[in-house]
Amino acid sequence: MNYYNLKPRYYFGEGAVSCLEGEFARRKFKKALILYGGGSIKLNGAYDDVVKQLQKANIDFVEFSGIEPNPRDTTITSAIDFVINNGVDLILAVGGGSVVDASKVIATLATNRSKYNTVWDYVTNPKQLQQLPIPIISVITLAGTGSENNAGSVVTNLDKKLKKGVHQQYAIPYVAIEDPTYTYTVNAWQTASGIFDCFSHLLEQYFGQNTFEWTKEIIFAQLRVLLKYAKFVIDNPTDFTSRANILWTTSMALNSTTSFASDSDWNVHTLEHAFSGKWDITHGAGLALITPTYLEIRGKKEEWFYKKVEHLGKEVFKVSNFEETILFLKSFIKAIGLPLKWNEFKEITSFDESDVNELLNHSLQFGDESLKETYLEVLNTLKNDI
Ligand code: NZQ
Ligand code: ZN
Repeated sequence: MNYYNLKPRYYFGEGAVSCLEGEFARRKFKKALILYGGGSIKLNGAYDDVVKQLQKANIDFVEFSGIEPNPRDTTITSAIDFVINNGVDLILAVGGGSVVDASKVIATLATNRSKYNTVWDYVTNPKQLQQLPIPIISVITLAGTGSENNAGSVVTNLDKKLKKGVHQQYAIPYVAIEDPTYTYTVNAWQTASGIFDCFSHLLEQYFGQNTFEWTKEIIFAQLRVLLKYAKFVIDNPTDFTSRANILWTTSMALNSTTSFASDSDWNVHTLEHAFSGKWDITHGAGLALITPTYLEIRGKKEEWFYKKVEHLGKEVFKVSNFEETILFLKSFIKAIGLPLKWNEFKEITSFDESDVNELLNHSLQFGDESLKETYLEVLNTLKNDI
């Protein structure tokens, strides 16, 4: 049996935030938290719009800012204390995937504080919850993760240099507000990284061993949309149609639609989390670095995988074989300004044998032991490719 449940109510389009009037009337809240990152929401209008709606509805609110890209367990801990001390009963997560990811952990641990000593304890063992999380409304401002409509949160522990995902179905935002105009201010690097993050979500869900035909076609259709708009939106950041198509694709690409009745393969993400845990690089750019090498190496080791790579190339990239599929992917990554070599990242100043071991250990801790040789070959190939 397959289970499929889309949780949020979606409000999509310019001015979508006005839905808050109806949402606030439907359910009474005493005190809201506006959760955000480094301040981009004050430049794109999202902050002002949310504040206006709260004021109109006479809902008291407090703010917590400073959620980092690749959110840290320590910052999340401070936010949990803040939420508890302020008696918050609604979280408005306004920002990119990092803010929305953090909101789910905050919402969950604020009502289950006694169950865990630290945020990291929860991330590594999320099964001891008793209370439902505080409700979340997401206002997404960066198209990429799909966090606005899924259960995932990825948390970074800088002390341990670890990055790990945790899933909490009950913390999925119950309302997702998606206004493509909020994404106009996302710079070229973050736009491309968000697009490639989504591209990778689609590939990782396609590359499971068994894929339901319907799901495969939905994945391919969404990859085509990304290919159609990716370069254009980077050159034309305020083009509504492109931003809207990209934003909706990124949501629909990671909310269980594109994994319906199918196996997934999250190994590129497993490897990337080791990179961003260690060097704090942008997630989508890290995926771009790893993906072509992973597909090439795994395809050459396993025939079924090779055939899936080739099928993807023929159906979506309109090329004729395995090698051309890898080349197409590399040229797409280059065209949208993302790196193909580690020394293109300003954060990575050296990459040697000990780094390979560290990345391998991280990947094996959270990934698939049976792919150890593949991981190692991918890491060594990336290390040597300068
Ligand atoms: O902090 P602010 O000032 O808001 O600036 C952010 C940040 O510097 C900026 N930004 C966001 N919206 C903007 C904007 N700048 C201008 N205009 C706007 N409208 O962009 C920078 C990056 O933001 P971040 O939220 O970190 O990016 P993203 O959405 O790519 O999220 C990345 C995080 O999500 C995790 C990643 O591992 C990473 O930690 N993931 C979450 C997933 C999930 N929940 O399902 C799945 C993904 O695979 C991913 O692992
Ligand atoms: Zn991702």
